[in-house]
Amino acid sequence: MESVANPIAERISSISVSSTMKVSADAEKLRSEGVDVVDFGAGEPDFPTPDNIKQAAIRALEQNFTKYTAAGGTPELRKAVCERHARDFGTSYQPSECIVTVGGKHVIFNLTQAAINPGDEVVIPVPYWVTYKDVVNYAGGRCVFVETGEAGGFHLTAAMVEPRLTARTKMVIVNSPSNPTGAVIDRGEFEKIFQLTSKRGIYLMTDECYGKFLYDSEPFSIASLPGAKETVLVAGSLSKTYAMTGWRIGFGLVPAALVGAMTKLQSHSTSNPTSISQKAAVEALRGPQDSVGAMLAEYRRRRDFVLGRLRAIPGVTCAEPRGAFYVYPNVGVALGRNGIANTLQFAEKLLTEAHVAVVPGEAFGTARQVRISYTSPLGELERGLDRLHQFVVRHS
Ligand SMILES: Cc1ncc(COP(=O)(O)O)c(C=O)c1O
Repeated sequence: MESVANPIAERISSISVSSTMKVSADAEKLRSEGVDVVDFGAGEPDFPTPDNIKQAAIRALEQNFTKYTAAGGTPELRKAVCERHARDFGTSYQPSECIVTVGGKHVIFNLTQAAINPGDEVVIPVPYWVTYKDVVNYAGGRCVFVETGEAGGFHLTAAMVEPRLTARTKMVIVNSPSNPTGAVIDRGEFEKIFQLTSKRGIYLMTDECYGKFLYDSEPFSIASLPGAKETVLVAGSLSKTYAMTGWRIGFGLVPAALVGAMTKLQSHSTSNPTSISQKAAVEALRGPQDSVGAMLAEYRRRRDFVLGRLRAIPGVTCAEPRGAFYVYPNVGVALGRNGIANTLQFAEKLLTEAHVAVVPGEAFGTARQVRISYTSPLGELERGLDRLHQFVVRHS
């Protein structure tokens, strides 16, 4: 029998396996062998989905809301997304400018595939969330990276972005608060970045996945600025805000023409997001919002604890996260000796020797940091940080 020539399509080689998922898989494997692993790798809330949301899903099942819906989401949910965004941020989107997707990743994938032509440049701040780079590459675009730097707390400024804009720039991607650093773009800088992109007719994609988890500033959407709707692309997700990672509901608030293009793509791939999840999402957006504040308060407690413990490790430095639920400490002190050449090897050794899972900074485009998610209870954080402390001291 002949084997298939070129068995894997070339475009698949432009993307790599999501390294955050790889860490979780490695940690899971060790755990299944009976090892007591502390997992700081997973980027998902440890809280259960709030009960009112679960009840809405149960009602949807009981009422047999179990059939196909419109590919881009039910009119009811699209309206609920627009209303929530208007209430929270003062925007004025219509359901025709809203698409519901199978999670936040899906909206970012469909947006980049619908907007980027081969050769288009896309400006991406470093450290970046892994997926941006891969989906831009998959669309045939060219990533243009902007270093933010630990010294400045990884804060993105307009002055960093401006020199990267060329006649070929199609899009700038921003993520505030940031995964992996927790950095928040200062409002004034955000507005300046918007001025830069809008006057050149460049899309500004704002990933608002962690937009409600801010420690010392008010939630803000750049889409609320006058004239923003023409070029600003909002990528949203219910996954973290409402502890709904498994339900897979994300959304885009974008010009109607892009909604059309993305719906076309979606209609040939996933079709609609799960009908039951859509009903649950309506409740999440329209129902009581107090669970969000309660989660934020707990994340703040953990942030303060983790930051204190990391800064107490000799040689480790750490910028203060202003949002999301990640810290991005610099572990350079333990690199370059004992067979630990880079953060990938640091993470591997930390997992096998000390049984703590973190994500290496290489995944986010930097060489000396690792990402820690503080999505575990304080006791678990303490256990993991004790191990990390000893590990770094041993290897410095
Ligand atoms: C920055 C960022 N954007 C978007 C997402 C997408 O989340 P989901 O696809 O689970 O909605 C994530 C998930 O980790 C993220 O960290």
